[in-house]
Amino acid sequence: MDSAGHDLRARYAAYRWTPATSGASGAEVHRLTDTGGAGPDLYVKVAAATYGLSGEADRLAWLAGRGIPVPRIVERGTDGDVAWLVTEAVPGRPAAERLPEDRRPAVAEALADITAALHELPLADCPFDRSLAVTEARAVRNVHEGLVALDDLDEERAGWTGERLLEALHRTRPASEDLVVTHGDLTPENVLIDPETCRVTGVIDVVRLGRADRHADLAIALRELVSEDDPWFGPECAERFVERYLQRVAGKVTVDEDRLAFYRLLDEFF
Ligand SMILES: Nc1ncnc2c1ncn2[C@@H]1O[C@H](COP(=O)(O)OP(=O)(O)O)[C@@H](O)[C@H]1O
Ligand SMILES: [Mg+2]
Repeated sequence: MDSAGHDLRARYAAYRWTPATSGASGAEVHRLTDTGGAGPDLYVKVAAATYGLSGEADRLAWLAGRGIPVPRIVERGTDGDVAWLVTEAVPGRPAAERLPEDRRPAVAEALADITAALHELPLADCPFDRSLAVTEARAVRNVHEGLVALDDLDEERAGWTGERLLEALHRTRPASEDLVVTHGDLTPENVLIDPETCRVTGVIDVVRLGRADRHADLAIALRELVSEDDPWFGPECAERFVERYLQRVAGKVTVDEDRLAFYRLLDEFF
């Protein structure tokens, strides 16, 4: 950590700091435990100013005002190079954690419910644009700046170059977008649940929240639910998720395989 990090360490010296992630996402996350035991645990997220932590704080505030459970902001700031965001810990555990087998369907349904709740938020109120006009241009930039993790592509695209990814992206771009408020990185890691009731206790990591096609969220959630690497969910949970989601959202909504494939491809760039 640099000087901003040292200042944070000093400011929160009464807490025990434990790294929460490897930092692979571009942000360093630490859990802070109040050694005095009086206050709630906190999370500190620190990243280069270009990561968008200030935008993440804006999105948390926007969601909190609309009844979506999110962590409370303790402080946010930047010194120009580095930005930080300190939040209160949301109770519960990431939905990605392995729970007893009989709770799988309930967790899949809880994920569907929070996805639908986000997608039903009033679109016109949402000031954050993640439509293709924005994300496709950013995908191009990320390739040119070498920011795409080409060694971590989905299996079906292993070994692809940035140019090949871009060619596929432009070629398969849907002609229209079914815009809703999307989370933008809707993995079970980023949804916290109460392991007893399987209710959602909070949504986190909202740096990419914005107006986008609903398939942007569905593609990522379903990729994780059917993943061989996370065998505790699986295809049945994925089906349960889609059924429940379609029950919860109003209007004529369809889940389109081509769009799911496109938004999975788009996610490779971020
Ligand atoms: N406010 C919070 N409450 C509970 N857990 C949190 C909170 N913030 C972060 N975490 C934990 O830290 C992990 C990483 O934080 P996240 O914001 O998702 O950053 P990353 O970009 O590394 O995924 C999360 O998956 C979650 O386990
Ligand atoms: Mg995360």
